[in-house]
Amino acid sequence: MSSWRSEQKLSPGGLSSQLSRTLFLLLLSMASAQEVTPKPTSCLVSHSVNGSSISCHPPARIPRRFPADTAYLAVEFFNLTQLPDDTLQGLARLQELHLSSNQLGSLPPEFLVPVPRLEVLDLTRNALTRLPPGLFAALAALHTLVLKENRLEGLEPSWLQGLKALEHLDLSDNRLQTLPPGLLANVTSLRVLDLSNNQLKALPPDLLKGPLRLERLHLEGNRLQVLGEGLLAPQPDLRYLFLNDNKLATVEAGAFQGLRQLDMLDLSNNLLTGVPKGLWAALGRPAWDMEDGFDISGNPWVCDGDLEDLCGWLEANKDKMFSQNATRCAGPEAFKGQMLLAAAEAH
Ligand SMILES: *[C@@H]1O[C@H](CO)[C@@H](O)[C@H](O)[C@H]1NC(C)=O
Ligand SMILES: *[C@@H]1O[C@H](CO)[C@@H](O)[C@H](O)[C@H]1NC(C)=O
Ligand SMILES: *[C@@H]1O[C@H](CO)[C@@H](O)[C@H](O)[C@H]1NC(C)=O
Ligand SMILES: *[C@@H]1O[C@H](CO)[C@@H](O)[C@H](O)[C@H]1NC(C)=O
Repeated sequence: MSSWRSEQKLSPGGLSSQLSRTLFLLLLSMASAQEVTPKPTSCLVSHSVNGSSISCHPPARIPRRFPADTAYLAVEFFNLTQLPDDTLQGLARLQELHLSSNQLGSLPPEFLVPVPRLEVLDLTRNALTRLPPGLFAALAALHTLVLKENRLEGLEPSWLQGLKALEHLDLSDNRLQTLPPGLLANVTSLRVLDLSNNQLKALPPDLLKGPLRLERLHLEGNRLQVLGEGLLAPQPDLRYLFLNDNKLATVEAGAFQGLRQLDMLDLSNNLLTGVPKGLWAALGRPAWDMEDGFDISGNPWVCDGDLEDLCGWLEANKDKMFSQNATRCAGPEAFKGQMLLAAAEAH
């Protein structure tokens, strides 16, 4: 950065007063611009029973080394495109690592080897397109992994190898088009899976055969066309299911079998014209059991005899129905534009 003193030398005495005044003003404005440019500061440091917490945000200068007792490390909002391979060397007590809002396009394969006690890794808003196989292999204590807002187009089972304790996996806002079979086969502790806002057209039928204690499943904002029978069975603990803003035209009859704990079901903004008999009965009586409710608005429902099953169930559970005014019939002609609930009552 240029300093005030070195700039001053550029102003020789022999210039016309006009020019020197211009120069003077220019220098003044440069000087004041310098004043508003934040000076590098230090990272924030605090201490707890677990060790040091270090938070680095611009304009802080990132130190080359962190204290050996660092338990919490955040290096965020720097737009870093790379991290030195040995960034975490010697930080064996690290529990949380937050690297969000950088521009990391890849991570070194051995990057996480020095931090086997890591519990939380947040890589939100980077530029990751892939991960090295076995990146997390040493992380048997990791319970939260956030990869949202990256550029992942696909995933490989080998990337997730070793995540025995993982409870929360956030892959939302990437570019995922397909998922491979066996992806979560060994990720059996998972409680929250977020795949929202990707480009998924279908899911492998075995996706949830590893994690059998899911509580929250986010699939909204994809291009799913069919919800198959086997995907969610059995998920006895599932409480929140988000399937809204997809292209679902088919939900198979057994799709909700065994979902006894559901508190929220969002099927809004899909392409559903009808649903098979028996689908809803599996959900029991939401009016008694559902804490939140269900949303089936924004679908082109065809309100004919085939909807009788749904209509009967709606009648009994309308207290838990969201967006009633936006849940309307698209056909047949006689019912077009009518609220589904009104059509249900007329049936
Ligand atoms: C210390 O670590 C334990 C175990 O991970 C954690 O439960 C606790 O919240 C941490 N304490 C602080 C102050 O960070
Ligand atoms: C990072 O990039 C964003 C968006 O381009 C920009 O607004 C921000 O100032 C940059 N931050 C730094 C520390 O360079
Ligand atoms: C899952 O675990 C089994 C048994 O430990 C192992 O053979 C397999 O390679 C693992 N798969 C992945 C993708 O980690
Ligand atoms: C229902 O929605 C329509 C437009 O979609 C609006 O004009 C009307 O006021 C709404 N009624 C209620 C009760 O919210």
